[in-house]
Amino acid sequence: MLRSASRSGAVALTSAALMGLSALAIPAVAAADDTVCAPEDVTYSVTGGTIEWGVKQSFRNYLNMPFVEGGWNLGEGVTFQGAPTGADGRFIWPVTSGAVTSQNSAAASGEGEVHLHGHHGALDTRISNPTVEIDGDEGVLKMDYRGTELNMDPNADPVYTEGTQVVAATFDLNAAGTFHKAGTVTVGSDRSILHSEFVPALGNYAAGSEMDPVTLNLEVSSACEPGGGDNGGGDNGGDDNGGDDDDNTGGGIFGSLGNIFGSLGF
Ligand code: HEM
Repeated sequence: MLRSASRSGAVALTSAALMGLSALAIPAVAAADDTVCAPEDVTYSVTGGTIEWGVKQSFRNYLNMPFVEGGWNLGEGVTFQGAPTGADGRFIWPVTSGAVTSQNSAAASGEGEVHLHGHHGALDTRISNPTVEIDGDEGVLKMDYRGTELNMDPNADPVYTEGTQVVAATFDLNAAGTFHKAGTVTVGSDRSILHSEFVPALGNYAAGSEMDPVTLNLEVSSACEPGGGDNGGGDNGGDDNGGDDDDNTGGGIFGSLGNIFGSLGF
């Protein structure tokens, strides 16, 4: 990861010494400014990943019961892994956009649809385009849905209900995510909790029902963009001129001068 290069060898400088040596020191300051990238200049972006959710194991099991004659079709890049009726079964959406908003927070969205069906069309529900928002150790899953309302009369005309980016489930993370890194960040839960906004999508579960785990695998990349912050110069004013210890990171020009004097053996 990019960060400020360490500076050492600081020495105490009086104003008189600085003034007397300014002609030597100032041109050298630029050369001595070996800052690579200050932490505040590092930006993090989402380059890919996946969102995993199995909805609810008992629902997947229900769809596979003989009297339901149901199942699911996957569209637009969505895949399924694990056993269809098992605890490890889950739908996997590819992440198509996202952002790292802080060290411990991020958001990502996927595209693609899962078409859940059964009872010869009486159950005909599509859930799609999930968004996962992580804030510390808490997560929210949002989705679009369009599907038939629960009606167990096989002769009734299906009535459709729909929602866009409604809260499907909330969850507590097993461990808070740390998104200020380059690489894959995985955060997840042991289970999720059905939110009231998503109750119509599945018809037969009350808000607060226990649902399957949510997992977010996020591909994060880092880049250095100097100019967004103060580029590592730190506080260049004040009275602390790096003279009483060997930590010169906050000195700006004065800190660089400390390096020069240090290397000259003062
Ligand atoms: C002809 C229409 C339907 C019939 C005859 C029917 C029948 C049933 C039956 C008998 C069960 C209980 C299964 C069990 O516990 O073993 C059940 C559960 C369920 N049904 Fe339906 N259903 C119909 C339509 C729908 C529709 C339209 C939806 C969704 C909008 C739906 C969602 C569910 C859900 C979520 C469960 C609970 C599954 C679980 O977790 O055990 N059903 N249905």
